[in-house]
Amino acid sequence: MKVLVVGSGGREHAFVWKLAQSPQVQALYAAPGSDAIGELARCAPVKANDVKGLVDFARKEKIDLTIIGPEEPLTLGIGDAFADAGLALVGPSAKAAQIEGSKAFAKYVMKKYGIPTADFEIAATPQAASAAVLKMGLPLVIKADGLAAGKGVILCYNEAEAEDAIRLIMVDKQFGASGAQVVIEKLLVGEEASFIALTDGETVLPMASSQDHKRVFNDDQGPNTGGMGAYSPAPVVTDELHRRVMDEVMLPMIRALAAEGCPYRGVLYAGLMINGGQPSVLEFNARFGDPETQPILARLKSDLAALLLATTNGTLGRMSVEWDPRPAVCVVMASGGYPAAPQTGFPISGLDEVKSDPDVVVFHAGTKRIDGQWTNSGGRVLGVTALGETIESAVRNCYGRVETIQWQGAHYRTDIARRAFGRMT
Ligand code: AMP
Ligand code: GLY
Repeated sequence: MKVLVVGSGGREHAFVWKLAQSPQVQALYAAPGSDAIGELARCAPVKANDVKGLVDFARKEKIDLTIIGPEEPLTLGIGDAFADAGLALVGPSAKAAQIEGSKAFAKYVMKKYGIPTADFEIAATPQAASAAVLKMGLPLVIKADGLAAGKGVILCYNEAEAEDAIRLIMVDKQFGASGAQVVIEKLLVGEEASFIALTDGETVLPMASSQDHKRVFNDDQGPNTGGMGAYSPAPVVTDELHRRVMDEVMLPMIRALAAEGCPYRGVLYAGLMINGGQPSVLEFNARFGDPETQPILARLKSDLAALLLATTNGTLGRMSVEWDPRPAVCVVMASGGYPAAPQTGFPISGLDEVKSDPDVVVFHAGTKRIDGQWTNSGGRVLGVTALGETIESAVRNCYGRVETIQWQGAHYRTDIARRAFGRMT
């Protein structure tokens, strides 16, 4: 089959890397892709948010299956546009993609159908938001309703922080129209995990569990980023918790969305807070996580193309998934100045040496190849991903490689997956 991957980051490089191993994939395309993705797929100069351009491209090339990396095309309606054109795509309709595109919608559905999540209020004016803060009491989390590239969530421990957050989102309009409404919710404590599944609307087929690291510095210090590293599996997701998440979150959410008139197909990602064995949903996403996808796909033994195809044609119930039992760790190497002001354009050394190691793969998130030389071109640059017999050895393998890759200003966390030490064999 002919497969198209939409996007250009580390997650999409991982998709292409895995799909290139599938005997079912005869031709692999990416839009827009990247220089690194171009080593494995034919890149087309169509932007990820150009829904019409992507439909035209998929029609022209007779693409059999399309997988979307980022959220924006999904909320813009690429699921509907491909369905109208009779093209198979892994992803929901625009209406169902609101589980990610509108936090207020996601909260409304969770509350109505009893899916565990923090208590909340929704406010459409700064006055209403301030009143909700007083009513609910602190600490709270204030979130822009719409998409904000992971940055529209502000943790508030006192009234001044809450007022600042309301001003930033609703008055200064830092996130534009995404901040027309805010969700104000109770601050939850516990350990986070990402629970990502494929669903054809009936069957929910979970991927391996994972955990990402959103803050830029060690010990979860500093501002939030797109993600500085991830590992899989997440030992906090025990077998018992896995069952609970399936029974209390994933299956009820699929049924709830069908009951709301927007049946859900595609990737369902629940960002969870786990406390005392009880899962609560922090957010839903309509796509794979970045960088969680990198360690997850490093462990996937089954054919990704077959799983994705089954997601689009209602046959997921016939599929099973096989995992490498070994844990995988992905450490993100970022540009100097990231996340505020990444400095780019520096030559990267040490990449060629990694290619000979079967247990390590380097996914490119923000690189360009200029006259044969890799250079950094984005905030997050590389996702160095390694397997190991234990989580400790996966971490050792990973950092052993990270330390040999260099460019001016490169930085990374040195504590990725440390939380899992001693909890996994
Ligand atoms: P979200 O995009 O809604 O997942 O929020 C991004 C991050 O903010 C999450 O991964 C958490 O670290 C944090 N967060 C979101 N909601 C809450 C909450 N209710 N309590 C504590 N932390 C939260
Ligand atoms: N790693 C978090 C996300 O993809 O939303």
